[in-house]
Amino acid sequence: MFTGKRVLLIVSGGIAAYKSLDLVRRLRERGAAVRCILTKAGAEFVTPLSLSALTEDKVYGELFSLTDEAEMGHIQLSRDADLLVVAPASADLLAKMAQGRADDLASTALLATDKAVLAAPAMNVRMWEHPATQANLALLKERGVLTVGPNEGDMACGEYGFGRMAEPMEILAAIEEALAASPAAASGGGPSLNRPLAGLRALVTSGPTHEPIDPVRYIANRSSGRQGHAIAAALARQGAETTLVSGPSQLPDPAGLKTLHVETAEEMLAACQTSLPVEIAVCAAAVADWRSVARAQQKMKKNGAPASLELTANPDILAELSKAGDLRPSLVIGFAAETENVVAQAQEKLARKGCDWILANDVAPASGTFGGENNQINLIRAEGVEPWPQMTKLAVAERLCREIAATLGR
Ligand SMILES: Cc1cc2nc3c(=O)[nH]c(=O)nc-3n(C[C@H](O)[C@H](O)[C@H](O)COP(=O)(O)O)c2cc1C
Repeated sequence: MFTGKRVLLIVSGGIAAYKSLDLVRRLRERGAAVRCILTKAGAEFVTPLSLSALTEDKVYGELFSLTDEAEMGHIQLSRDADLLVVAPASADLLAKMAQGRADDLASTALLATDKAVLAAPAMNVRMWEHPATQANLALLKERGVLTVGPNEGDMACGEYGFGRMAEPMEILAAIEEALAASPAAASGGGPSLNRPLAGLRALVTSGPTHEPIDPVRYIANRSSGRQGHAIAAALARQGAETTLVSGPSQLPDPAGLKTLHVETAEEMLAACQTSLPVEIAVCAAAVADWRSVARAQQKMKKNGAPASLELTANPDILAELSKAGDLRPSLVIGFAAETENVVAQAQEKLARKGCDWILANDVAPASGTFGGENNQINLIRAEGVEPWPQMTKLAVAERLCREIAATLGR
């Protein structure tokens, strides 16, 4: 019902916060990606760990967090979703929304968003009936904020009346209605300004591969998966129905897309082939070029070390996708990680592999590319070389998406 939809759920400080855990579960069951902001007071009622386990994503709480800003700026967080849902919406947060205050992450995201907002108020009946709360609600509704509930009934505080948060199923129905009504949330149709890649399918590979020698040892490389994951998340944000095929990585699965986990190059190729057809393929994984010919079934003993390790070439995923016949994506993009003669080697690779573009980057230790936040790209096409300035991997992902959208006439 919600496949491909992204909901930013803001959980504020009220007893009903426990029902939001159920709401997350039900949204996820129906295919939505859910990202959570938990207010400081909200964290007194439910733990970030519970929300994180249910969303399979990080839970955001701090406005002034360097890590969160680097990974997902607060503005990005507010724009990234199809819909913002505030459940429970405390009297306090409703007042802040009405006043346009932005003194924590939840209120800042609500002020910075350009998406529809649905609030599920929950509070003591006297708080609900107070003229201040009613005036705040009236103002918010006038500005287009959607609401669901509250319901009438017994309250946790022992009183009776209106103020109980709507049940998760009622909130789900309101979310469905809000998504259907919100133009920014529409997907599957043609491209829009916000989601220029809507209606297209994308495949991204990311991370290293691990090539086993025995059950505990493997051949690997230093790739973190940061660039590939950022590209997959950016393509999904721009509306593409995205599959990420990820080698072993410490990074969480990005929201709003399908992630397939693999270990070896052969598994990665098979996962890519089952993900076709797509219009866009970006091979950002640092696939091991070789694997060990022998793969011991038991751990090799220290004193029984082989005199040498015989290696054999792994499949070339970029080349395979480039010559996939009828299933060849319209745009096949590869990466060339080099430590010297970066551009010349990448130009040669473009011709040899038969792909459309190569993003060449310098991965010499001094560049700090592997595992770092930044990247310096040369975009190599048959027409020529375009050097990009040094920028964050998130910015590289955004710029690549713009290039893709422009090339595909979006
Ligand atoms: C036990 C307890 C239960 C509370 N329940 C509610 C509630 O259901 N609704 C509400 O609006 N405030 C409730 N509050 C008060 C809010 O937690 C408080 O106003 C807080 O500042 C809200 O912060 P937030 O809006 O940033 O989450 C409760 C407080 C306590 C101590």
